[in-house]
Amino acid sequence: MGDGGAVSGDQRLVTGAADEVERAAEAALRPRRLEDFTGQEVVRGQLSVVLRSALARGVAADHVLLSGPPGLGKTTLAMIIANEVDGALRLTSGPAIQHAGDLAAVLSSLEEGDVLFIDEIHRLARTAEEMLYLAMEDFRVDIVVGKGPGATSIPLSLPPFTVVGATTRAGLLPAPLRDRFGFTGHLDFYGPGDLTRILRRSAGLLGVHLEEEAADELARRSRGTPRVANRLLRRVQDWAEVHGAPGRLDLSAARSALEVFEVDALGLDRLDRQVLHALCTRFGGGPVGLATLAVTVGEEPETVETVAEPYLVREGLMVRTPRGRAATSAAYEHLGLVPPAEGTLFG
Ligand SMILES: Nc1ncnc2c1ncn2[C@@H]1O[C@H](COP(=O)(O)OP(=O)(O)OP(=O)(O)O)[C@@H](O)[C@H]1O
Ligand SMILES: [Mg+2]
Repeated sequence: MGDGGAVSGDQRLVTGAADEVERAAEAALRPRRLEDFTGQEVVRGQLSVVLRSALARGVAADHVLLSGPPGLGKTTLAMIIANEVDGALRLTSGPAIQHAGDLAAVLSSLEEGDVLFIDEIHRLARTAEEMLYLAMEDFRVDIVVGKGPGATSIPLSLPPFTVVGATTRAGLLPAPLRDRFGFTGHLDFYGPGDLTRILRRSAGLLGVHLEEEAADELARRSRGTPRVANRLLRRVQDWAEVHGAPGRLDLSAARSALEVFEVDALGLDRLDRQVLHALCTRFGGGPVGLATLAVTVGEEPETVETVAEPYLVREGLMVRTPRGRAATSAAYEHLGLVPPAEGTLFG
């Protein structure tokens, strides 16, 4: 943040991070090179081809769109892309760009080979979207000077640069904008093996000894999400500091910390459980509309849809039906509730 004028009061760069401390801790654990980025083999392989080809040809890399649920590595990959092509990283986000003029200011300050990271790109203002796709395609921006009939537009050509867009909701991007990205990578939840590797690497960076069984336990209960894995690791570190042997994280330290911080056997967090609980107890398993469900748990529909839902669906606890969201019998089982009679549930 804070480089040039690219970021105007952007507080949402690392969405989901609790505060400054969390943000700093996350930054310290971010891999800087593609080879240190664990998992997501397909996206990593494709991205590596795109970047190496651009380097070999001596041109700016094609624009890259990264989509997927929070905490899976979109921001991390954007930073890696800038490192790999040796370009300066400029950061901004959809919500920070309220008017086309905000974007014009960012674009006109770009230098050749810069990587412009636009987080939450699905929240860009409509007028900025149009300006962006022109800039992405023709490396040109029309600056409008004055108002009304006297307004003139001055074309400004831009040096070649690379846009990296990140979004938790690729479906919301208008097709013309989506089409301007030469490469789209969709990040999916990580398997326990990858999370174990990520945890080991993080433990090394934190200078703590993480035993194998403890790493496996944390990996299983990290919601398929590296951000969650790294956070749990720090909580276990806290626990060991206070109750165990500082710097030695074993299975019993891991289990005790997970219990203290109320992480359940599947790694569901409070919002996940609230959503499931509401579905099962208030709506008889559903189906119920997203908006109604969100109000019940006191969250924005977008939060329920992008943060809680993907993992619940992936774990087979919830299904999306044309009439709304529904709980599966596995959800009742997980919550220790008795499911309704056979045949009345989805899934
Ligand atoms: N593949 C990976 N290997 C190692 N660490 C990772 C990986 N992916 C993510 N991380 C770690 O997880 C944390 C969160 O990742 P990141 O901030 O890139 O997520 P994000 O997709 O941008 O999330 P959001 O949608 O909330 O902005 C980072 O601190 C990073 O260290
Ligand atoms: Mg991010």
